[in-house]
Amino acid sequence: MAETRAAEELERLAEVAAACTACGLAATRTNVVFGDGSASARVMFVGEGPGRNEDLEGVPFVGAAGRLLNQLLSEIGLQRSDTYIANVVKCRPPGNRDPRPDEISACKGYLADQIRLINPAVVMTLGNFATKLLLKEERGITRLRGRAYPWWNRVVIPTFHPAAALRGGPSVLASMQEDFALVRTTLDGKSEAEAEPDSPAQQLELFG
Ligand code: URA
Repeated sequence: MAETRAAEELERLAEVAAACTACGLAATRTNVVFGDGSASARVMFVGEGPGRNEDLEGVPFVGAAGRLLNQLLSEIGLQRSDTYIANVVKCRPPGNRDPRPDEISACKGYLADQIRLINPAVVMTLGNFATKLLLKEERGITRLRGRAYPWWNRVVIPTFHPAAALRGGPSVLASMQEDFALVRTTLDGKSEAEAEPDSPAQQLELFG
């Protein structure tokens, strides 16, 4: 029942996002890439922002980075449809440039709502932008990855962005495989009951 309500609320939020003009990215996007996956996922992934393929299809991680994400998931016995995948910004930054602070601020409420509604036990942040937004850390991903951080009644496990593994080769990939294995052991060790819904006060403070 709660699951159906979360799915319905996510759909409503996606409709709101589809008409969003809160930042300049609205002018150049083809599609808003809201998110994809199960409203009752126990693990959620947060990337940076849609690339060209994602902008054209309206679905996150459908290009080469997405294929690597699917492979890493299958190595820990998960399918993409067991998870929920979203990005820090929902519209493609032109030319795949980094999202700007004003764009992240304009968009972060959607991500906070997605996390609140899905209520996953584990959030895996992919790369620096998602990790910095959630953990409010100045240290980069190389320093932060490799462990689980308690975060609003759940854990955040940071790892490299899949695009970094595509560029960086086997050592980056091996680190990502370790981090995905940590997702698996964390999920296995965690009961459903451990991810309590956040209180209203916590929800407001999610991203400060
Ligand atoms: N890179 C991201 O960060 N997100 C996507 O959806 C695709 C590529």
